Amino acid sequence: MGTALVTGASAGIGRAFAERLAREGTDLVLVARDRARLEELATALRDRHGVAVEVLVADLSDREQTGRVCDRLADDVRPVDLLVNNAGFGFRSSFLDNDLREEEAGLDVMVRAVLLTCHAAGRAMRARGRGGILNVSSVASFIANGTYSAEKSFVTVFSEGLASELAGTGVTVTALCPGFTRTEFHQRARMSISALPQALWLDADVVVAQALRDVAAGKVISVPGGQWKVLTAALRATPRPLLRGGAMRAVDRFRVRG
Ligand SMILES: NC(=O)c1ccc[n+]([C@@H]2O[C@H](COP(=O)([O-])OP(=O)(O)OC[C@H]3O[C@@H](n4cnc5c(N)ncnc54)[C@H](OP(=O)(O)O)[C@@H]3O)[C@@H](O)[C@H]2O)c1
Repeated sequence: MGTALVTGASAGIGRAFAERLAREGTDLVLVARDRARLEELATALRDRHGVAVEVLVADLSDREQTGRVCDRLADDVRPVDLLVNNAGFGFRSSFLDNDLREEEAGLDVMVRAVLLTCHAAGRAMRARGRGGILNVSSVASFIANGTYSAEKSFVTVFSEGLASELAGTGVTVTALCPGFTRTEFHQRARMSISALPQALWLDADVVVAQALRDVAAGKVISVPGGQWKVLTAALRATPRPLLRGGAMRAVDRFRVRG
């Protein structure tokens, strides 16, 4: 079943990708910062599913460490058939109130690392004439709310462009655009989410199952969940001026101050 490299595999959606792919018999390269969590997951997946699992500890906000992930993706002796660019995080404050170091790290993890890894994987896969790239974006890429939206917009549009560039080569590119998904994301970003309607929430397993079906079907944009498909279609049809103010007000409700 080949090999998949998953970034942000230590928690949430990335961990769910690793578990699902291992269950399907795919060998794995797990990337994140937390070595202990990655090693524990790798051992569990090897024992449970008999797949080969490598652990590649890397902070994707660091250029040199991201370079090691790119080297692994470019390695023709141990080809990677599916790249899942999933690592990411939400910001704890709005742009002007936030620490610039966190803002730069966001740009590095959610934009630069996606760009660099797609370059390495895209070239290697194109040369082999097969492969898949799945970039985890967000429904936030369709609205206008601060740097997170801007970075996820990059991921969605960049994926669309790369999908066109690779059309006919045997390599597919998919931007996964989930809505609210139960993971560590909101707690890490200190977001207050108790007021969110239950109907909006997705399970990471559901997101991953839909994403992998869409990759297999060669879809360029994947939006898991019927409720989010409808909302996304509405968002994309909404005039930008309305979207701008509405998005800010909606997201501000979930921000924890102080
Ligand atoms: N949850 C949602 O509602 C939601 C909705 C739409 C899109 N998304 C996107 O889904 C993706 C996964 O998020 P999640 O919800 O699963 O969040 P999560 O549970 O907080 O997991 C985030 C993962 O990213 C890794 N990560 C963060 N910073 C990193 C860095 N500097 N270098 C390497 N790895 C890093 C974390 O691992 P370490 O801490 O071990 O490094 C962790 O494995 C993100 O791109 C997020 O933007 C989430």
